[in-house]
Amino acid sequence: MSDDQMQKIVSLCKRRGFVFQSSDIYGGLRSAYDYGPLGVELKRNIAQEWWRRMVHEREDVVGLDASIIMHPKVWEASGHLSGFSDPLVDCKVCKSRFRADHAPEVSEGDAVEITLPDKGKAKAALIQIQEQFGVEVTRSKRTLSGAVAGDRGYVCPTCNSPFMSEERQFNLMFRTSLGPVDPLGRIAAAIESGDLADLDTRALRTKLTDLAAESAVYLRPETAQAMFVQFLNIQRSMSLKVPFGIAQQGRSFRNEITTEHFIFRSCEFDQMEMEFFVEPGTDDEWMEYWTNERMTWWKRYSNEPERFRLRPHAPDELAHYAKGCFDIEYLYPWGWGELEGIANRTDYDLGKHAKASKTKIEYFDQEKNKKYVPFVIEPAAGLTRGLLVYLLDAYTEETVTNSKGKEETRVVMRFHPRLAPVKVAVLPLVKKDGMPEKAREIVEAFLAEGINASYDQQHAIGRRYRRHDEIGTPFCLTVDGDTLQDGTITIRDRDTMEQRRISVSDAVSEIRALLAV
Ligand code: GAP
Repeated sequence: MSDDQMQKIVSLCKRRGFVFQSSDIYGGLRSAYDYGPLGVELKRNIAQEWWRRMVHEREDVVGLDASIIMHPKVWEASGHLSGFSDPLVDCKVCKSRFRADHAPEVSEGDAVEITLPDKGKAKAALIQIQEQFGVEVTRSKRTLSGAVAGDRGYVCPTCNSPFMSEERQFNLMFRTSLGPVDPLGRIAAAIESGDLADLDTRALRTKLTDLAAESAVYLRPETAQAMFVQFLNIQRSMSLKVPFGIAQQGRSFRNEITTEHFIFRSCEFDQMEMEFFVEPGTDDEWMEYWTNERMTWWKRYSNEPERFRLRPHAPDELAHYAKGCFDIEYLYPWGWGELEGIANRTDYDLGKHAKASKTKIEYFDQEKNKKYVPFVIEPAAGLTRGLLVYLLDAYTEETVTNSKGKEETRVVMRFHPRLAPVKVAVLPLVKKDGMPEKAREIVEAFLAEGINASYDQQHAIGRRYRRHDEIGTPFCLTVDGDTLQDGTITIRDRDTMEQRRISVSDAVSEIRALLAV
């Protein structure tokens, strides 16, 4: 899978109604996406499969659907207010803003060539570098030579310049305010009163943050915290015995500095997380159990399971709350990258919330007659990132010979039948002789059974098959002259293109059986 194929997938997503750029007619909003008629079906199918496996097929996991906006103290206690930040830097030459920890690495003293978008910008940058930083550089077209890397260990990812601002920590949480009190009013009053007059930039920033903080609330950056905060309510109301889990799916928001690779990293995305509470001392066993379970789940719906791998975090990579962590990674067109993290969060979160809320958060094990704070194993997956993975996994191009004997490219989205947005298409061979009526009757039988079926009569039958191959419909049923005579219908398999006849009266049960894989 190359970058070129990635572009083909992005374009297929728009053309066929999977994913659109948000606010497209206004030029789009950076890193925000809308899931169209087929995208929403695919997303719901992935979410449904996760819920089925994680909640409905088990007795030890229950669900939760919590608010996106929670009490601000939650984020104080969890450490997100002080620690959930990226190191942000501005390039003083090309003015781009980037994450220091994602910038290209260089060694101090390395020669670097700075490249600007055009000759005019390169000329202006040459004067700026000489005057502002006192460094002699020479220019060849749009490239400047003569600068060397400093002790930061990285350069600007856009132009390669080593001339940058200081790093500042940028909190990834979106802040808004709750209630009728407008923080701007408080800031205006402070300015009017002269309270801010003599403050330097740093003090002014702190003061303004404090003024805004009084009514500040945050859009959740992960779904996980609600499961910790509601631990007692859920455990007591459902009389749950440890080990047990709480699962949740929903929107999370992060003001990501670098948004990249289509829907891979965006500011608004969906997560599927589960907090599994266990007795301390049994946590290593459960960690192994959940990593195996989650890996098996992702591979189950894939055509290329070898593109998934498990990567343990090195000690210096571990989040402050985690005792151990594995990433389930996928081989994206740009290399291996994270899809899901499985972390041993110990008793960190329950402990922090107990302390901050002054609530005793403990579990009493009646059989063992002992009290303890459970440890937590957390499989945390990205739903929208998973959708990208299954789009990449499904995309196939193959050369086939058409009905006129010519070779052509067939694009097939080989979605697992349980994930496919449309399960079955019903196609009248021609638009006459009672075939459309019969086809509609069959579609209605599917819809009545909750199976997403589509009626399609536009264009020649070959083109219709191709259209459904491209959106990943696993089965096409074609109504022809024989259907009206003998009550049989052709069923075509998307992947093998093989066709066979089945009885119309068996169509729903046959497809249901094929979907139950
Ligand atoms: N509760 C732990 C937690 O949120 P995480 O590794 O930050 O852990 C879990 O997020 C998963 O959420 C990631 O593995 C990824 O699939 C998804 N995710 C995180 N940030 C994302 C973003 N900006 N855009 C899309 N998906 C994201």
